[in-house]
Amino acid sequence: MNTINTTNSLEKDNTVTSEQLQFTGAETQSKRQGSFVSFDTQTAPKKDVKNTIKLSTSDVHVYYGESEAIKGIDLEIYENEVIAFIGPSGCGKSTFLRTLNRMNDTIDSCRVTGKVLLDNQDIYDPNLDVVLLRAQVGMVFQKPNPFPKSIFENVAYGPKLHGLARDKYDLEEIVENSLHKAGLWDEVKDRLNQPGTGLSGGQQQRLCIARTIAVSPEVILMDEPCSALDPIATAKVEELISELSTQYTIAIVTHSMQQAARVSDRTAYFHLGDLIEVNSTEKVFTQPDHQLTEAYITGRFG
Ligand SMILES: Nc1ncnc2c1ncn2[C@@H]1O[C@H](COP(=O)(O)OP(=O)(O)OP(=O)(O)O)[C@@H](O)[C@H]1O
Ligand SMILES: [Mg+2]
Repeated sequence: MNTINTTNSLEKDNTVTSEQLQFTGAETQSKRQGSFVSFDTQTAPKKDVKNTIKLSTSDVHVYYGESEAIKGIDLEIYENEVIAFIGPSGCGKSTFLRTLNRMNDTIDSCRVTGKVLLDNQDIYDPNLDVVLLRAQVGMVFQKPNPFPKSIFENVAYGPKLHGLARDKYDLEEIVENSLHKAGLWDEVKDRLNQPGTGLSGGQQQRLCIARTIAVSPEVILMDEPCSALDPIATAKVEELISELSTQYTIAIVTHSMQQAARVSDRTAYFHLGDLIEVNSTEKVFTQPDHQLTEAYITGRFG
């Protein structure tokens, strides 16, 4: 039987940043796109989301030093839904997203209180294996961040680390399936040994999605995954999000309200560290409950 090398060679590669290892967030400012969004029921998801709770947070507060960035958020995220997080810059969307797979742990000044449950299990339990958690709850960042390795190795990295492949052939199958699911296989099947960094931005982002999928996550967190992409690449990633949502639970931060309307089942509006409202995306964009939400979606705030 063939054996595969499970050595974590990336750790020895000093060109790899901690961000690429998905142990920190990629924080850059981004701009609002668009103002008022017309809700198009033709493109809106029609998925029948069952209300099985996948992730839940209760009374979650996040502090950077003395400053409170998240002020007590209760939220339930359902299995196989796409939930969009929207709100003005600096209101805590990325911070809150990172509490869902403990990415905030890597920021020294950051402290999280409250409860976050994944399938009813406390993810802040000190005995929990955080590396495993981050495979179960994977993350895709704003800026595509492939490892400085081949396309194949980018996707094979996680399965090797977690010992998910029985042998070389099994690993090849995982890589191929993940690239298929990420809608990238046809574009890269003849160049698997070329560097991932040689792909276009949109292809790199789909490669990062393939890398996330390769470890069989249950939840995928996406922090403005299209903000560095052109409209064509954005459309491909959005299509992919809709396809992936039949199998995974997805939470996506976006500054594009059109994107939230196109891809999400529910939308959560954040404002200065508070969760102001969470409702079906159609309701948020047509009849929001709260005036702060309305001010934001009509372009009067943000
Ligand atoms: N690493 C950090 N150290 C200190 N403060 C931080 C850090 N990251 C975020 N903050 C602060 O926490 C608050 C929330 O920031 P966060 O990045 O979560 O907002 P956001 O809604 O994602 O904004 P944007 O839309 O610009 O990405 C802001 O006041 C920000 O300055
Ligand atoms: Mg952010």
